[in-house]
Amino acid sequence: MSRPVAIDCDPGLDDAVAMLLACGALDVKAVTTVAGNAPLEQTTPNAARLLSCCNRDVPLAAGMAAPLVRDLTTAEDVHGEDGLGAVELPDASVEPIDRHATELLADVARTTDDLVILSVGPQTNVAAAIRRDPELIDDIDRIVVMAGSTQGGNVTPVAEFNAYVDPEALSIVLNADVPVTMVGLNVTWTARVGEETAAELERANDSVGQYAAAFIRALSPFHSARDGWDAVPLHDALAAAAIVDPNILTTRSMRVDVETRGEYTTGATVCHPDADDPNVDVAIDVDVDHFRSVLVDAIGSGR
Ligand code: RIB
Ligand code: CA
Repeated sequence: MSRPVAIDCDPGLDDAVAMLLACGALDVKAVTTVAGNAPLEQTTPNAARLLSCCNRDVPLAAGMAAPLVRDLTTAEDVHGEDGLGAVELPDASVEPIDRHATELLADVARTTDDLVILSVGPQTNVAAAIRRDPELIDDIDRIVVMAGSTQGGNVTPVAEFNAYVDPEALSIVLNADVPVTMVGLNVTWTARVGEETAAELERANDSVGQYAAAFIRALSPFHSARDGWDAVPLHDALAAAAIVDPNILTTRSMRVDVETRGEYTTGATVCHPDADDPNVDVAIDVDVDHFRSVLVDAIGSGR
């Protein structure tokens, strides 16, 4: 039986691959959108079109249009003006429901046993949902976040994008009394995917596989120019794959604090492996081949 998940995302090209993977291998109960890679007015229709690509009619709700206390930072340089690298997608056949994302997350958590929240954008919605209803954490089995890093950053030398955009929200989530797995840049930068896997995805599924390959290829120019890489880190898809098979990651229980006041370090996730008050299961290693095979199998499942 596949794991029940609610996906909070800011599609976003790697969010898009994560959604396709989740729709193929997990029991997606709901999708909520947040501002991040693009404004909410873009991430929400993007999520609707992605669900339509997968023929999934699950509840979709829009959430927070800005971080809890800061101005929004977006990432059009990575994901394009439309958030999906101008990849051609069919018009959406699903519409967002007239509920806030925080309400939908709470409803799904209450009515689903063992729910995992896959949170792959800035943590604004999840933090707001926990603040709105603190008892929500009792109904969540685990939160898997793509955020932070044990070292390094992709917005500043020390801050990863989701953590940088809303460090206050990430701090709330990491300090909520619920099991959290942090999938950071230290593993996502390793688990890169290139043209060989893109071609495998196309062969694996002649519809969803084409979109997954297109999203991967749309990420390539940015990483080739900035990093000199011929493969791309699918940050969010790795977090999703780790729910399909937790053995993809090696994790270590650590204390993780989020810098929210540093003039140069805001958004840094400071990881203490030897602390006596750990709060997060931090991914410290990844089986890249295993990740790629879970990705191809999920896309190829045809579900
Ligand atoms: O730093 C990578 C993360 O920020 C990913 O979730 C990507 O989609 C962006 O939101
Ligand atoms: Ca994302």
